[in-house]
Order: sequence, then C-alpha cells, then structure tokens
Amino acid sequence: MAEFLAGLKRSHYCGHITGNDVGKDVILMGWVQSRRDHGGVIFIDLRDYTGITQVVFNPDISAETHRIAHSLKDEYVIAVMGKVRNRPDDSINEKIPTGHYEVMAESLKILNESDPLPFPVEDEIDAGEPIRLKYRYLDLRRRPMHERLVMRHKLMHTTRAYLVENGFFELETPFLTRSTPEGARDYLVPSRVNPGKFYALPQSPQLFKQLLMIAGFDRYFQVVKCFRDEDLRADRQPEFTQIDLEISFVEAEEVRRVTEGLLVEIFKKARGTVLERPFPVLTYAESMRRFGTDKPDLRIPWELSDFTDLAKDLDFKVFKKAAEGGGLVKCLNAKLCGSLSRKEIDDLLAEIQPYGAKGLAWIKVTENGLQSPITKFLSEGFVEELFKRTGASKGDLLLFQADSASVVNAALNHLRNHLGKRMLPLSQEDFRPLWVVNFPLLEYDAEEKRYVAMHHPFTAPLHEDIPLLDEDPAKVRAQSYDIVLNGYEIGGGSIRNHAREIQARMFSLLNISEDEAKKKFGFLLEALNYGAPPHGGIALGLDRIAMLLSGARSIRDVIAFPKTQRAVCLMTEAPSEVSPKQLEELYLKLVPPRK
Ligand code: AMO
Ligand code: AMP
Repeated sequence: MAEFLAGLKRSHYCGHITGNDVGKDVILMGWVQSRRDHGGVIFIDLRDYTGITQVVFNPDISAETHRIAHSLKDEYVIAVMGKVRNRPDDSINEKIPTGHYEVMAESLKILNESDPLPFPVEDEIDAGEPIRLKYRYLDLRRRPMHERLVMRHKLMHTTRAYLVENGFFELETPFLTRSTPEGARDYLVPSRVNPGKFYALPQSPQLFKQLLMIAGFDRYFQVVKCFRDEDLRADRQPEFTQIDLEISFVEAEEVRRVTEGLLVEIFKKARGTVLERPFPVLTYAESMRRFGTDKPDLRIPWELSDFTDLAKDLDFKVFKKAAEGGGLVKCLNAKLCGSLSRKEIDDLLAEIQPYGAKGLAWIKVTENGLQSPITKFLSEGFVEELFKRTGASKGDLLLFQADSASVVNAALNHLRNHLGKRMLPLSQEDFRPLWVVNFPLLEYDAEEKRYVAMHHPFTAPLHEDIPLLDEDPAKVRAQSYDIVLNGYEIGGGSIRNHAREIQARMFSLLNISEDEAKKKFGFLLEALNYGAPPHGGIALGLDRIAMLLSGARSIRDVIAFPKTQRAVCLMTEAPSEVSPKQLEELYLKLVPPRK
C-alpha cells in the first residue's frame, strides 16, 4: 500500500463501460459496493461517482489475486485490471447502464481499507439525520446526495455563465465587515489587533453592492455566503448562499426581467424544465387578499374571499364581532374537500390554533344544500353572495375565519397549504413561480414600539407614495419584489434610495437618529452625496432554489456540510470552546450562560 498507485493509471470510470469496450483491457478504480462469493467465483460491484461495474474474479486467476479479492470488504478502495466482456444472458442487469458488461479481473490492488460503516452507502437508508451529518462524507457517497450537489454545481455554473453573458461583473465583497441590517442577529468576530472591537459577518453584501454601483460598475453579481444568527427552520441555515446582483439605471421591471431570464436558464440547464415567461405578478395587497400570504403556492388552485362587509349584518356573534372590531371574516373554498368527515374537519382546528385561531366555522356544499353548524345564522343574501364570491359548487368545503387580519390570513393560508398538500395531487415537478411586489415599506414592531423596514432600510418607496411618508407611513408601499416558487420565497430585492434626503428620511422613520445613522451607515450616506446613480437589485436564495430543483425536503440536503437546527456542525463539532489563551489574546472574558 505504501507505493500508492505505483504508476497505475485509471483508464475508465466505473459507470462509463460500454459495448465499445468489450474485449479491451481496462483499469478501474473505486470503492467496493459489495462482494458476493459463488463457489470460487467472486463478484465485486465496483463504484465511483459515475456508477457501478461488475468485476468478476474466476478461480483460474493467480491464487494471490483470488485471495486478496476474497478479503475485500465494503468500501475498500481498489484498482482492478482486467478485460471487458459481455455478461452471459442470464446475468444481465437492466437496472444499471453497465449491466450488459463485466470486467474479468486479472489483477487487483488494494489502495485503502475501510472500517465497517455506520450506515450503508445505498440510495435508500434508514439512518437518522444526526448520524448522516456526523459522517457526512459517507452520506455524500450516496447517489441521491451526490446528484443533488451536482445539480447545485450546475445551478452555480449556469448562473455565472448567464450573468457574465448579460454584462455582469463578478466582484467580491468583504466577510470581515460591519453589521448590515437584514433583520437577523449578526455573527461577530473579535479583532485581536483592535482590542474591544468586532467585525460582523455580512448578513448580505447589500451595502457593498450599492457602493459598487456608485463606483460605476453598472452590473454586479456574486455567488456569496451570507451569515445570519436567526432561529432555524428546514429552509434556513446560519450560513447560506445568495446569488446577489445589482444594476444601475434601472427600474423594478428590468431587475425582474433579468432575474426571470436567469431562473428560466437555471431550470432549463439544471433539470431540463421549461418555465413559462413572463411570471405572474401580484401586488402584496392582492396576494394577501387572495391567498392570505405573501408566498402563495400557486399549484393549489384555491383562493380566499372576503365577507367582512356582509358579516356586520349577520346575527352571528363570532362574525359580527370580528367585522365590527376592525378584523376580517374570510373564507377558503377548499374545492372538493366536502368528503372530509366531521371529525376530520374538527381536527383542522388543532392545525390552526398555533396561529391564534379560536374556532373554525365551516359549510359543506352538498346535493341537499348547505350542511353546517352555522347555517342558522346565515341570511339569504349572505348565502347568495357566498356562492358568487367563492364560486362554490357541489362537493366543496368552505372554511371560515373571523378574527384580526393577521390571524385570519395566517390560519387560512395554513389550511390552504395543509389541505392542498393532503387532498390534491401536487407534483414536485410542477414549478409555479410568481412575483409579489410593492410590499409595505414599513412594518410596526409592537415589541420595540417602532417601525422597522419590511425589506431593509435602503429600499425606496413607490414614487406616488412619497407624500404618505409624513401623513401615514404605514401606508407607504415600497419598490420591492419577492420571487416566490411553490410556496417558498426564493429571492427578494428592491430599487434603492439613491437620493440622500429620502434615505435620511427613512432612517428617521425607523427611529434611527442622525448620529446613529452616521455612525452605522455614514460611509453609505456620504457616498450618496457623490453622484449615486439610480440602482436596484435582488438576491436569490441559492440553497432554496437547489432544494426545489432537486426535490429535496430540506436545504440541508443540498448543502455539503450543513448545520443542525441548533446551528451545530455534527461532524466538526463547531462551534467549540476555545483556550483561555485565545480569549486572552482577544481581550475577551466569558460570562456563564444565564439559567
Ligand atoms: P433577503 O434577506 O430577502 O434579501 O434574502 C434573499 C434570499 O436569501 C434567502 N435566504 C436564506 N436562505 C437560507 N437560509 C437563510 N437563513 C436565509 N435567509 C435568506 C431567501 C431570500 O429570499 N440584501 C437583500 C437582497 C436585495 O435587496 O438585493 C437580501 O439579503 O431565499
Ligand atoms: P360558537 O358560537 O363559539 O359555538 O361558534 C360557532 C361556530 O363558529 C363553531 O363552529 C366555531 O368553531 C366557529 N368559530 C368560533 N370562533 C371562530 C372564529 N374566530 N372564526 C371562525 N369560526 C369560529
């Protein structure tokens, strides 16, 4: 083993043996997928990332080679020399591309051994995620994982090619930098040479890409890591990758056009899927009204309708109270879900209680009219409108929420997704992108008792809403846009404030004092004084796109070395303690965690 390959050169990949190779001498290298001994004949399935070839060791080869072949165990790394031949008819395997051929081994070299594995390298395994993450390099040997990362590679490669082709410059921005507000906590890095000072890892390259526009680069992009210390879910990681871009002298439509072109190209090149253009565009207000969410899954054809106006005149306390108290009464028409039993409908309440729902009124549209615990409260006029607004027909299930706008929308959005996934044959191969545009510029944070930026503080208001900045800031709409795919926000961006007065106005609305703004973003405010061009951009979540492209259930499955929901890497065991000396060098002292 000491002499490594000793001049041996691989001639073929395991998955690339074809009919043209029959009769040829080949040298294959790879991992032992399995060994079967059949009365002196030893069969090895030899694997590399391209596939598997069957290698046969007959008893008539040298005794030494036969002995070594017999000693092979799963995942040993070997080199095999031999001749390709057609398999006998009765041992052809139609399931693999090389299944018509086999290599008759003449000699063999063990390049490395392997301990018994914690789980097998097979397509389907029942190992839990923790063990897969601890031995990620073994998990990644499995074909489905490998294929997802190759898909991710194609996605990156296509992105670079497309954007460069379209006049974008790929430019890097620093990781050791100042805080960029994107709504999460920062990861901080202490500075040894500047005692008591910290860098923040960027939550996005937002400020730098704007500065690159001011620097005249016109079109910038970067495939870039971003860092956010936030509560994690299946579609979030503490470090994740953005396809980040910015363009000068543009309006929102142009940013959307370029982004659509990029996504169409990605889906075509990475999985051969044709996305139809242009993508539908919904305003935020319309999306909330029709779907109760700013990221509707358009594969589900059901919509919400509003009955707040009529609910005021009903003799039904629950509805009346919500309508008169400034809340909403809305209905989801779950088409053809009238087959659900009473118990199944009752169980839906538990689904939406986490969103604050206090009850769930429902109506089944049956052959014999409406069936519902609340029919007695409904006026004739209401029922007439019910059919008109919901488009209800026989077999449908109408689900009502009466509460504050946020509870009503959140609960009905959840029911729409939950029942849609349960009752409709939704395909992971069906891709339904859309734009959601003109979000509110600001959002009131009840906890902090102040406005916060809904996208980020550099987003420009809609021109016609600028007067509202003084009169009614909550009503101001932004020049912002999200790209949504099958219920996931896969990207977001905006046109920025290139005029310093508006940017300063924004900071004051956010209750950021002039002093504080100067301290935190002084460099940007100053740069706006030196001829900043109108500009805007977007960032796409590369991990989420890779997840949807490959049909994975979590973004962890499309990241080579991801972290758990507790932001831990189970393989390296990061984060870890550091030595007292390291802390001392950084002028840091630890405070024991609060109980
Ligand atoms: P935003 O914060 O919307 O915008 O981020 C852009 C996209 O990045 C993805 N994303 C994430 N993916 C995985 N894990 C996370 N923790 C995570 N957080 C965000 C989402 C999201 O749509 N600077 C602006 C962009 C701009 O205005 O140009 C920004 O970062 O898919
Ligand atoms: P109650 O009068 O509380 O018995 O409620 C009558 C019906 O209205 C029941 O089917 C409840 O589930 C339903 N309901 C109660 N509160 C709400 C609400 N906030 N939104 C929708 N339906 C509700």
